[in-house]
Amino acid sequence: MIDFNNNKEVEEMLQKIDKDIKQELSEKRYKHSIGVMQKAEELAEIYGVDVNKAKLVGLAHDIGKELPEEEKLRYAKENKIEVDEIEKINVGLLHGKIGADICKKRYDFTKEMQDAIQYHTTGNENMDLLAKIIFVADKIEDGRNYKEAEKAKQLETARGIAKSNIEEAVLYEIDSSLIYTMQKKKLIHPDSISTRNKIIMNMI
Ligand SMILES: [Fe+2]
Ligand SMILES: [Fe+2]
Repeated sequence: MIDFNNNKEVEEMLQKIDKDIKQELSEKRYKHSIGVMQKAEELAEIYGVDVNKAKLVGLAHDIGKELPEEEKLRYAKENKIEVDEIEKINVGLLHGKIGADICKKRYDFTKEMQDAIQYHTTGNENMDLLAKIIFVADKIEDGRNYKEAEKAKQLETARGIAKSNIEEAVLYEIDSSLIYTMQKKKLIHPDSISTRNKIIMNMI
């Protein structure tokens, strides 16, 4: 098990992950992963979360994303990962669970770090601060930009909220994606709804 307080060990692990994702992901997704690592570090400092864990999880979060659909399903089957009704249709969602499993086996990530990777796709009512940071960092990292004026404005709003209230930032991202999902008549994963309800209950 890696000692997360040992910066040298963490640096070596970051380099190992960097090398792997450079090979396994497209250049665009690789750059996104670096962006998420940097944003996760920034947010971890603001919210008093272990910066080393945030960086490692941020860098590795999309490690399973570019496996072709058949490979994702095969990986899930071979590694006894449960595939729910929505994931059977939206196979892409599985990259959270698969990424978590890869990081457990390859890099010995802790359960908390695995959960943060697993939950970054749909959200989850059990998200802790690390998971919330990764969820938000994924959506607002500095490399993201939108040509469409309204989306660009939303991104700036989300970046502002993330600096002051991580719960509000998760809620903002979930609401934006629910609106989009509904407009497109796509399936909504129940975990997104329960995450939203949990946050709102905590606010009441
Ligand atoms: Fe992802
Ligand atoms: Fe991502």
